[in-house]
Amino acid sequence: MEPRLRVFLCCVVMTFLCGRGTGTSSTTGTKFSLKTGVRVTSAANQIRQITRTVTQGNWTLLFRAQAGINEPVYLTYINTSVQHDNPVPLDFPTACLRMSDYGACDRHFRSHILDNFVGIDQVRLSLIKSDTEVAYVVFDAVGASFQAWFSPSRIVESTWMPDVPNESYHRPTLRGDCPSTTVCRRFYLFGPHTGCRSEWLYTMTLDSASDLCLDLTAEYAGLKLNYPMFFYSATSGRAALSINPSYPTAQTADVLALWVKYV
Ligand SMILES: *[C@@H]1O[C@H](CO)[C@@H](O)[C@H](O)[C@H]1NC(C)=O
Ligand SMILES: *[C@@H]1O[C@H](CO)[C@@H](O)[C@H](O)[C@H]1NC(C)=O
Ligand SMILES: *[C@@H]1O[C@H](CO)[C@@H](O)[C@H](O)[C@H]1NC(C)=O
Repeated sequence: MEPRLRVFLCCVVMTFLCGRGTGTSSTTGTKFSLKTGVRVTSAANQIRQITRTVTQGNWTLLFRAQAGINEPVYLTYINTSVQHDNPVPLDFPTACLRMSDYGACDRHFRSHILDNFVGIDQVRLSLIKSDTEVAYVVFDAVGASFQAWFSPSRIVESTWMPDVPNESYHRPTLRGDCPSTTVCRRFYLFGPHTGCRSEWLYTMTLDSASDLCLDLTAEYAGLKLNYPMFFYSATSGRAALSINPSYPTAQTADVLALWVKYV
């Protein structure tokens, strides 16, 4: 995109009030301020016609997944038939572009950028709960494909510093570990599979209606889950499902948003 157009979009079209990215040199960084989300004016439909992307500061929305809508995340992420911007269609729900007031959102958002993944410096994975970015991790995406940037060795900044880049994980990939309908976990930063009661995580996206380990917890035992579910550690360290008392219990987010920053 032309810089001039990008600036125009940032400033005029869909503005996150108070939105500000963070510096890239620090490893602790600052959470996004997303309270007010995307503001679409009364001329929303007219604006959509010229809106190629959704932005916040220097970050452009790459993908946005909504919890509990029973639509797969990973299969949507890789599906090149799905594009919701360039421009954003008139009938695409505004709630699914926002980071606040998104209760009515009924679908995932997939940017055309995924199908032209070039010139990208960083990817930010944001976990949003109650209109707030509750955890994030920024990856160095230089030279990576649209699936390969998700790697612990590429982490440059996170709410889970200092340990998150250096832990031993089980299949720490975007595709994650999905051998069956009772284990289907994406965006996977999860420790070795040693048995549910001793396992820990920083984040995982549950991408099916049941899960082997959640079935052992009091909250979810025997339930058909409304997926996806976005689990995350709310501290700077490891979390666990409630069956492992060694760590704080992982929390669930409402939205998983991915952003890109261009070189
Ligand atoms: C966006 O990028 C420009 C140019 O690199 C920089 O000057 C500006 O501070 C950045 N803005 C934010 C909000 O990070
Ligand atoms: C990809 O998306 C298209 C359009 O929504 C849909 O028809 C198709 O079934 C999807 N493919 C897969 C593999 O999910
Ligand atoms: C994690 O690994 C990075 C790069 O390998 C290293 O610079 C850093 O000191 C390590 N952090 C900890 C806490 O071990």
